[in-house]
Amino acid sequence: MERLQKIIANSGVTSRRKAEELILKGRVKVNGEVICTLGTKVTENDTIFIDDVPLEKKEKKVYYLLNKPRGVISTVFDDKNRKTVVSLIDTEERIYPIGRLDYDTTGLLLLTNDGKLANLLMHPKNEVEKTYIAKIEGILTPSEFYQLKKGITIEDRKVIPTHLKVRKKEENSTIVEISIVEGRNHIVKKIFASLGHDVQKLKRESYAFLSLGNLKSGEYRELSLKEVKKLYSLK
Ligand code: URA
Repeated sequence: MERLQKIIANSGVTSRRKAEELILKGRVKVNGEVICTLGTKVTENDTIFIDDVPLEKKEKKVYYLLNKPRGVISTVFDDKNRKTVVSLIDTEERIYPIGRLDYDTTGLLLLTNDGKLANLLMHPKNEVEKTYIAKIEGILTPSEFYQLKKGITIEDRKVIPTHLKVRKKEENSTIVEISIVEGRNHIVKKIFASLGHDVQKLKRESYAFLSLGNLKSGEYRELSLKEVKKLYSLK
C-alpha cells in the first residue's frame, strides 16, 4: 500500500506537490471513484485516473538468465507458431531477449524489459565477451587453429577470438571453445564455415561475467541486483 500522491508522483507525470493539488481539486479517481483525501492508500492493483485518463503503471524492471533449449526461437512472437524463449519464463512483464541465439543453439540467454540495458549490451562498442562451445564437423587442423587465432574476416570485418581452445578431438569432429566480442547473427557458424567446418552443435556457456552454473536446459533464474549493476558498468 502506498499513498496516492506518492504513486502519482512516482509515475513521473507530475511532482508530489502537484499531485496533492490534483487530489484536492477532485481531479483524481481511484477505480472510478473521486478521491479528495490526501494520504489515501492504494495498491498496485488499483487503477488511478487523472482527469479520467488512466495513469500508466510504471513497469517493474526484470532480468532473467535462461538456459535456452534447442528448438526454441529467440523472439517474442513467432508467426510460424514455434515455441519462443519468452514463453519459457513465467512473468507478467513484457520481456524480450538481449540479442539472439539460433533456433538450434542452446545456452545462456538474457531476457529483460529494460531497454536501456539491452541497448547498452548489444551496442558493438561495448564489446561484451561471449563464450561458445562448438562441436564442428571434422578435425580442426593446427594451421586452421592458427588462422582462427589470428582472426577470420567475415563479410569484410575481422573477428579475432579473445579466447580459443580445442577441448577435444573426436573421430570426425572437434569440440572447440571460442570467445568473441561480436554480436553478428550466426557469427560462430560463419567463422567455422569459412574454414570448411559445419557446426553440428553450438552452446553459449557464458556472457560477460555470467555463466550457466547449474541451470538445466529450459531452466532460468533472475539476476541479482549486484549482477544487474555490474552489467550496467561494463565498458
Ligand atoms: N553464433 C551463431 O552462429 N549462432 C548463435 O546462435 C550464436 C552465435
